[in-house]
Amino acid sequence: MTRGERRAVIRGTGSALPDRVLTNADLEKMVDTSDDWIATRTGIRERRIAADDEYMSQFATRAAEQALSSAGLPASQVDLIICATVTPDMPIPATACIVQDRLGATGAAAFDLAAGCSGFIYGLAVAERFVASGDYRAILVIGAELLSKFTDWRDRATCVLFGDGAGAVVLTPGEAPYGVLATSMHADGSMADFIYVPAGGTREPASERTVAERRHFIRMRGNETFKMAVRSMEETSRAVLEKAGLTPQDVNLFIPHQANRRIIDAVGSRLGLREDQVYVNIERVGNTSAASIPVALDEAMRKGLVRKGDNLLFAAFGTGLTWGAAVCTWGW
Ligand code: ACO
Repeated sequence: MTRGERRAVIRGTGSALPDRVLTNADLEKMVDTSDDWIATRTGIRERRIAADDEYMSQFATRAAEQALSSAGLPASQVDLIICATVTPDMPIPATACIVQDRLGATGAAAFDLAAGCSGFIYGLAVAERFVASGDYRAILVIGAELLSKFTDWRDRATCVLFGDGAGAVVLTPGEAPYGVLATSMHADGSMADFIYVPAGGTREPASERTVAERRHFIRMRGNETFKMAVRSMEETSRAVLEKAGLTPQDVNLFIPHQANRRIIDAVGSRLGLREDQVYVNIERVGNTSAASIPVALDEAMRKGLVRKGDNLLFAAFGTGLTWGAAVCTWGW
């Protein structure tokens, strides 16, 4: 296979969600909100929340193990592990290294990738280049987040939105017509304060003051984010489809980042997609950030909604701000 012929094909998928379910009714007892407000404004009915003693690498490892098992690939053959996350186990080292150890993927390079909710798309774009170039033969791309640990459970504007979980895919080389056809990645840091955690980094190291002022939790300008999300997800989806020589009508399944049901519906309708072309699971899992697309993909696979030869479109948007999309022809 020459460099031009070689494509990165998704061979396996996996996902892992916490057992604990937090419903809108539970949230009604915690903050001044209602099931009706949350369901109407976001489409979310419940989400999974990790237990106090659970941490991100546990879910990332479980999702990765499932992806490897569905690909029929031993961990010893993995060349690279990319863990897309903004909620690592700890600031140092990269959680991808912890996952590498847990998997026994001793030959794999490993790094974390921080692009918020767009992290899985960014990870897929990076992995695709390494496989297509022939440098690596098996790459795990994991999207994993425990946003609940950075959620201010007194802030009704954000605490109703997020859920925890992890999803993973395995990419290996294959030939046309299957594989990743096109990807796009974008960022605009002038809107970095739309979704952010002010303290805990080098700018505002953790102190008694930062803890007292609740500056280690997510803050979000939801309304501005919403408008940017719809516009950018539509534009970047159109761009990758065009790069791949496809139109929205050629898409068998669109798996968007699950941030808000209204964002998903608006993007789907602007792209001219029918309801059955769009996969939605936000009502059960909430916004799981970088995990949302691989978790939804794994679910869609298990439900038999993805068949060999199908064209899949992924698009995401998140903190940074970042956004991007990817299109692939399913190969297994
Ligand atoms: N329950 C009841 N009322 C609420 C709640 C709540 N949970 N939250 C906010 N409100 C109130 C507000 O206080 C406001 O009241 P007011 O009119 O009296 O001031 C009113 O509801 C409307 O608030 P908005 O913020 O304008 O509501 P909006 O329709 O924009 O919905 C939402 C808010 C759901 C956050 C929406 O803007 C959204 O989904 N934004 C996008 C979020 C996103 O995509 N984030 C990116 C990914 S996150 C990441 O990268 C980690």
